[in-house]
Amino acid sequence: MDSASPIQVENVSFFFGKGELRKQILFDVTTEVAAGEIVILTGPSGSGKTTLLTLIGALRACQQGSVKVINNDLSNASASELVKVRRKIGYIFQQDNLLNSLTVAENVQMALGLRGRRSSKDWIERIETVLDQVGMSEHMHKKPEQLSGGQKQRIGVARALVHRPRVILADEPTASLDKHSGRDVVQLIQRLAKEEGAAAVVVTHDNRILDIADRILHLEDGRIRKLMDAVGDDAGRLLNLMARFDPNSYSELAAFALALTRVAAADRRIIAEEDTVIRQILHDVSRLSEGETELVVQLSRSMLGIRGSEEAPTAARPGSDARRQQLLDALHAVASADGTVIPEELAEIDRIAAELGLGPRPGSRAQ
Ligand SMILES: Nc1ncnc2c1ncn2[C@@H]1O[C@H](COP(=O)(O)OP(=O)(O)OP(=O)(O)O)[C@@H](O)[C@H]1O
Ligand SMILES: [Mg+2]
Repeated sequence: MDSASPIQVENVSFFFGKGELRKQILFDVTTEVAAGEIVILTGPSGSGKTTLLTLIGALRACQQGSVKVINNDLSNASASELVKVRRKIGYIFQQDNLLNSLTVAENVQMALGLRGRRSSKDWIERIETVLDQVGMSEHMHKKPEQLSGGQKQRIGVARALVHRPRVILADEPTASLDKHSGRDVVQLIQRLAKEEGAAAVVVTHDNRILDIADRILHLEDGRIRKLMDAVGDDAGRLLNLMARFDPNSYSELAAFALALTRVAAADRRIIAEEDTVIRQILHDVSRLSEGETELVVQLSRSMLGIRGSEEAPTAARPGSDARRQQLLDALHAVASADGTVIPEELAEIDRIAAELGLGPRPGSRAQ
């Protein structure tokens, strides 16, 4: 463990209940999050994500193992010590928890007010800065009820970050938002965490935002699993599924899904129109059900979401010439889904075409 890391979790086990009803929820969890690092915590419902987050957030006393947050050892901390540590952490909840009787600025100030003395001029400046950072300064005198869900969540982010915490914890901050606002909010958390050099852990069920993470932590039945193993499970399910329909179609479908996702993500962001086109194409190519298409989409996104390797995974080569032409057409359809085709998308199409031995697009070098 790097002693400089703001979050250090070592061999943590956790139990709920007593006696006969005692149930182990976390099993020997070890991880650390460095300053400026953003970790996304995923896993099925009930796998222990919130439990782990509340242990790191000093909202719960640690039972077994060691949790160190900003150099505070929480393992044997008293209730009052936990409260002190809690004040140094920026917590963003699923629901925004804003007080409707106060203005936006007052809601943010509430979080600051708890943190000891400061001159009111400093307060106002800091609140203005943080509201500006989340793009909400023009709304500072409004009441929360006059804001949209995404805007309220931004205020939640401002409130969590106003005291410049070195640790940011967010438990499904996007759950009540649509895809766009959800992604915006997580990107905002990411940007501010980087700017402030904070360590951030964001719990999410939304696989579409995995690419924002520096690292993905996958929890299953209270244990950390390698994401690749989890993706491998998905791939296994997918293979079984495909074998039922057509034993030869798996690699082809995977090729389609991955190539389409690469083009859509060429600008590091998959927008709703691209998402719709991808699903439509996969549905047309495979005649899979909606749920099955979803699985293919998730799988290809998980593969792209893994950072660390600069190279995107190579698409498998589709069987026939007709299929390859169909794939190229589909790639262009995704690229133009939002009405404009950007150079990054064209470059990605060229790369995929080269990997598949299809040669460059006619005239692509000249443009
Ligand atoms: N206060 C509690 N008392 C007893 N059991 C609890 C308590 N809170 C959670 N649990 C149990 O602990 C397990 C993990 O819960 P946790 O809330 O950490 O899951 P999660 O991964 O956050 O799930 P979700 O994605 O649904 O939010 C679940 O089996 C849950 O039923
Ligand atoms: Mg939870």
